Amino acid sequence: MYEATACANIALVKYWGKRDSDLNLPAAGSLSLTLDVLKTVTEVTPSSGSTDTLVLDGEPQSGRALARVSRFADLVRARTGVQTRLDIRSRNMFPTAAGLASSASAFAALAVGVARALGLSATPAELSALARQGSGSAARSIFGGFVRMHAGRAADGTDAVAEPLADIELPLHAVIAVAAAGPKSIGSTDGMELTRDTSPFYDAWIAQVDVDLAACQDALRSRDLERLATIVEGNCLAMHANAMAARPGIIYFRPATLWAIERVRELRRTGVPVFFTIDAGPHVVAFTPPAHEATVQAALTGHPDVARVLTSPPGAGAQVVER
Ligand code: PMV
Repeated sequence: MYEATACANIALVKYWGKRDSDLNLPAAGSLSLTLDVLKTVTEVTPSSGSTDTLVLDGEPQSGRALARVSRFADLVRARTGVQTRLDIRSRNMFPTAAGLASSASAFAALAVGVARALGLSATPAELSALARQGSGSAARSIFGGFVRMHAGRAADGTDAVAEPLADIELPLHAVIAVAAAGPKSIGSTDGMELTRDTSPFYDAWIAQVDVDLAACQDALRSRDLERLATIVEGNCLAMHANAMAARPGIIYFRPATLWAIERVRELRRTGVPVFFTIDAGPHVVAFTPPAHEATVQAALTGHPDVARVLTSPPGAGAQVVER
């Protein structure tokens, strides 16, 4: 049995738009921080059966979830010629029902676990390209700490891979205000397609991502938290503005989201170095130096629709061990 571990990541400069839907190629780059608390552990066992099996958080799966994982394993089987089926058991060490970025940790863990179980020898960049075919953000979760995803130019996607930004030493923790919410209004894949096809702001958004990527890397390297706040919040709000301008408009914010945004900005006005970002859901993720983590956690606690407030240091890259 091979036990793979990977952590989800939260983007400081967001991925929102594909240049190729089949290969899951992003239209622009992105930049993220891998988070220790959002961990997935996936056991991959070669089986003698005629089909793959999948158990998620103790629940045997069939239908779409199994088909998606099985198609992903097919990518590795096609490359190695090894046709062995796999028994896959995966558990998230954080609340999945909350809709946190579980596809990133799930497909990064699956990529390293399935590659190892089927004997695919692959470089980290190749594993990143493989994980990307499961979920765009999973390409970044192959690596720990700050990670830069490249849009790439190649039609086959071999250069649409992530790379660790190992020289950045800025210590940042995440404080996640997990908002109580019903099922997502629209998933990221459909949301991106609808935005690209109907939002009048889409081209401006894609052009802005390159500007934000350069500025964000620069601000991280010079440890300029004030500048980071402007770039990261601006990029997040531009992504959401772009999605809101799709037709019909996509609104991920809930009342608790706006409340948490306001709390973060209030804290900043009182001198606490903190800034927020928001993925395709209602949760607000605040970033702050470790010394301010408790203050930020307390400030984000107390809204009736904020179910819990998680904190996390940066996480490591995806790993696999034989047991
Ligand atoms: O990896 P996907 O296809 O679920 O897309 C992720 C989209 C965002 O989380 C909203 C942004 C990002 O860069 O992670």
